[in-house]
This record gives sequence, structure tokens and C-alpha cells, in this order.
Amino acid sequence: MTQWIGAIARGHNGGGCLLKDGEVVFNLEEERLSRIKHDGAPLAAITKMKEYTDKLDYFLIAHTSLLNQSKVAPILDYCRDDAYYGLARKLGLLEVPNSSWAEEDYTAFPSGTKWPSNVIDVGHIHHRLHAASAFYNSGFDTACAVIVDGAGSWTSFGLEEGDREDYWEVETLFDCAYPHKFDTKYKHIATKFVSPLFYHGNFNSGFWSGYGELGINWESEENESHELLARHGCGLVKPYEAITDYCGWQGIEAGKTMGLSPYGKEHKAFPPLFKTLGDVCPDLKFASLDIFSPSYPQTALLQLDHEPYVRMKDETVPPWQMSNRQDAAWRVQNDTQEQVLALIRKAVRLTGQKNVVLAGGYGLNCVANYYYLNELKDEGINLYVEPMSNDCGTAYGAALLWHHYKNPDSKKRDKITNLYSGIQYNHSQTEIKKMTKKFGGEVLDATDKDVIDLILDRNIVSLFQGRSESGPRALGNRSILYDPTDPNGKDHVNTVKHREPFRPFAGTILQDHVHDWFDLRGMDETPFMMYAVECKPGVEDKIPAILHVDKTCRIQTVTKEQNENYYNLIQEFFERTGCPILFNTSFNLGGEPLVETLEDGIKTLASSDIEYMYLPEYGKMITIKND
Ligand SMILES: [Fe+2]
Repeated sequence: MTQWIGAIARGHNGGGCLLKDGEVVFNLEEERLSRIKHDGAPLAAITKMKEYTDKLDYFLIAHTSLLNQSKVAPILDYCRDDAYYGLARKLGLLEVPNSSWAEEDYTAFPSGTKWPSNVIDVGHIHHRLHAASAFYNSGFDTACAVIVDGAGSWTSFGLEEGDREDYWEVETLFDCAYPHKFDTKYKHIATKFVSPLFYHGNFNSGFWSGYGELGINWESEENESHELLARHGCGLVKPYEAITDYCGWQGIEAGKTMGLSPYGKEHKAFPPLFKTLGDVCPDLKFASLDIFSPSYPQTALLQLDHEPYVRMKDETVPPWQMSNRQDAAWRVQNDTQEQVLALIRKAVRLTGQKNVVLAGGYGLNCVANYYYLNELKDEGINLYVEPMSNDCGTAYGAALLWHHYKNPDSKKRDKITNLYSGIQYNHSQTEIKKMTKKFGGEVLDATDKDVIDLILDRNIVSLFQGRSESGPRALGNRSILYDPTDPNGKDHVNTVKHREPFRPFAGTILQDHVHDWFDLRGMDETPFMMYAVECKPGVEDKIPAILHVDKTCRIQTVTKEQNENYYNLIQEFFERTGCPILFNTSFNLGGEPLVETLEDGIKTLASSDIEYMYLPEYGKMITIKND
């Protein structure tokens, strides 16, 4: 009998994942459907599940806390169901509680809400869900997982009930194996309060195993004991958020700080941000409380106002243009990546595993990911970095973890080969014409050659095809393409996309050519843009539009098997120019979610200077000319 598992991640960067007998039907971020950046209320994702199945066998809810402990979780009027279970129930995906149900058929909450027992809240095991998404995608039989996250699940750490929300998991190391072993080996939990209980030692943190809490027995952790560090302070990501705030952005925009970091340099006003705790975890360093004021779940704050250089402000320019912000970005990139490297080594040491999977928000730091490759090259470590490392990935992780928990004999998963697991949209030619006409555009016949003609004439052409990409990167199905050889390309596209002018762009290369152009530090491919890699000598002047100031590029390799239409398009560019690379950036404007539907794409053309959208499956080009 078919088994349907639906999972959602709520909070921020929410989304949904639907599995049918363990295979991904779709996995999608809420923001793509709702058009609200970082949207954390995955109601549209739940509604989307109804298009594929009338009933769910299991419904999992991921976040950083349990719904019944949340003081702000949305509820439905009258029935008082929480919004997520309530919507799924109203759609018919889940059962309506019935007074005749036996006790084991439902879970009752103090609020009076009842859930059928196939609704499982996994908000208390946030880091384990990140680990699950990475491990099951990695292709490894066994691995250790390194999870580095702003703030994972919160807990009492065995204290009084009233102190329950004080501590947040910030870094966790797991020992992973099939079917569903994720044994904690080290966990760092942190609090913003200045008089906490400091603890370092072995600890049986049953809370994170779910044991006893919800009647879920993750067997491997029944008697688990692991190294635990609980302290007043920050993890590794909070300092990054604090400096992102200092640079003038929201903490969640840390990727911009990463892009700014190579503009900075070492400056004595920014001393090392991390220091040892004496005999406590001597293999690691921790955020200095002289420099950072921790706050959970909000962004931490930088506390260096006594330094004139740090305080310096020029109101006539945006913060990121100032050297003190650039130097801060350099410092935090340098210091955090060193500490994640130390965590990777600690995970290997604690587990004896040479396979390492990395996830949690910091996994998206493609500069750091490339740094580890160099540092670990002589240590025989196989590194896999999860492309769905943001919190939407916890819905995916929850779905897969539950599948392997309920189906322990199901086969090991192959290494993930593509991320085109969003929604497929099919339109008739008439519909496409009608939709385009509504926005004042027209639909023309087009070939790959026509597209490359336009790109060589220095036009921006967007590409819309197939299923949308999971994760934050555009990989050729919702992309904006341009000529990577244009010396003014970066400025031009940044202007059109309304992005800060310093921000770099990515590119896509035919995989057969990658070693001629880039140093992949021992990798054969980088299909998910998880590494900002250095170009080879002599390449610097050939693709100026996609090289960052430090001559790196977040390059994507593509093969015909992964994306035939995209491959053929780049091949056409290669045959015409000798350059096997196209400039590739996400199909959106600054601050907007990635385009999801064809209509989203047409609206983007109508509201920007982008004039072309190529639909290779239809052999058509939509054009909306600028006024
Ligand atoms: Fe997370």
C-alpha cells in the first residue's frame, strides 16, 4: 500500500516536502509559492500536497520548538486547532478527531487540541533533521554530521519547567548510519542569560532524542550519553549575524557579509572573535563575550563601540562601503570557518568516521566550504555539504527520517544528483500567449542559437523550464543568464536586479571543461554551487563578469544527464565563443524569492529591464520590451 509522508518546516525559510513510498514527490520553499521572502508559515506548501494525494499517512512538523510550547503559534478560530494541522485536516489530508477514538489514536494537548497520532511534531530535534537531510542525500553508508546553526531547538536542559526556553542548540555532532541512527556525540547549547548554569561533561539529553516526550523511541539513543557544553554565550553563527547587522543588513542576509569579506583585511580593531575556554573543550574556541552580546532567537550584537575605528560611520555611503565593515566581514569569515574546521576534526575524532556531512545555515557558506577542502586534503576526509542547509531542509530531513524510521528495511539512498524537485508546471501554447499578452508581451519561436545571439549582444535572458530548484540556488531551471566575458557584466546585472554593486555572480560550466578553468581542490564536480572556487591562472581576464574580487566563483558544473536543455545552451555558447560557461544568477529581483511559476517570471519581465524569457521545452521566447 502506498505510504504518503508530508512534512513542513515552520519558523523562517519554511517549506514542505511530500514523499510517496520514500521518493520525493516535491520539496519546496514556502516563499516560492507565497512570494514573501523567508516565509515561515508553510500553508501554501500544505495546500500543494492536496494536489498529489487525498490523504497523508504521516504529517511531520519541523521547527526549533514544539508547537504546543509556542506562545505565538497561530490557531484557527473556534476549533482552536493550530493552523498547520488545522489546514491539513480541513483539506482532508488528515483525520478529524473523533470522540470514539482510543487513547493511542490521538495526542491531547493542555490547550484542548487533539491531534491524530499520525501528526508528529519534531520541533525538538532541529539539528537531527538537518543531519538527516544531509546524511540521506550524501550517498554515504555511514558518516558523521556537523551541524552549525544560528539557533536550533530550545530546551530546559533538565532545569525547571520555567527555564525551558533558556538554552538553544547551536552546534551538534552526530554519528549517522542507516536506517535512522543519529547518535549525538557532542552538543553545544547556549543562552543569552548572564547567570546560567555552566555545564561541561557527559550528559544524557533525552530531550533531543524525543524519548519519552512524544512516545517516539529513536532506539539508538535510548541510553545515549554524549559530551554537552551548556553556557552563556553564542555559537558560531551568531557572531556572523551580529556582523551582518553591523554591515547594515538583517541577520538572515549573512550571505552578503560572506560576499563582502574578501574586500576586507585584518585590522587590530577587530581582534580574534573566538577564544578558548581554558580546559573546557580545548580543541575548540568560543565567541568572545567581550565582543558579542548573545540573543536568542534574535540576532546577537557587536559590542566593540569603545573602538573608534569600529564606531566610525559615514552617513553619506551605505555601511558596506566602509572599510571597518569590510574588515569586520573579513574577520568573521576567517574566524568562523576556522572553528567549523575544528568541529569537523572533532566529529571525525569522536566517531572514527572519515565521511563528513555538513548542514545547518552555515553549510551555505561556500567560501568556508572551499577552505575546508584545502585544509583537509591530507586527512583522507570525504566531505559532503548539504545544498538544502537552510531551515526548509528540515522538512526534507524530517520526511526522510520518518520514512526510514517507519520502513527500516528500505534501501540506502543514492547520492543526490539533482535538485529539480520543485513543481512541474504545464501550460498550453494558448495559455502562455494569453498570460504574456496580459502583461503586454509577445511569444516568439526561439532556438538555442537565438538565445546565444541575444546574450552575445549583451542582453539578459532568463531561462524557465522544468521543475523548480530546491534550496536557495538557481541551477538552470529558474535562472537569469548573461555573457560572462562582459567586463561590465557584474555592474550591469547588479543594477538590473537591484542588488548592491559589490555582490558577485555565479556561473555554470560544462562539466567536461571544469578542470581547465577552475581548481576544484580534488572534487570532480560541483553541481549545487556549494563552493566558491578559485579560477585557474590565465582565466582571470576571460570571465570578468562572474569572478569575485578574490578571483573566485561559485561555479556550478552541469552534465547532459542533469539538465539537457541547459547543457545544450551552454554548448552552443561554447561553440560560438570557446568559453564553456554562462553567467547564471537566480531568476528574481533583489529581495524577492526565486521565480516559481511562469506567471511569476512574466511579472518579473514586466517589472524590470529584463526583456527575454526562454522556454526551451516549448521552443519559445517571451519578450516584454522596456519602455
Ligand atoms: Fe536550522
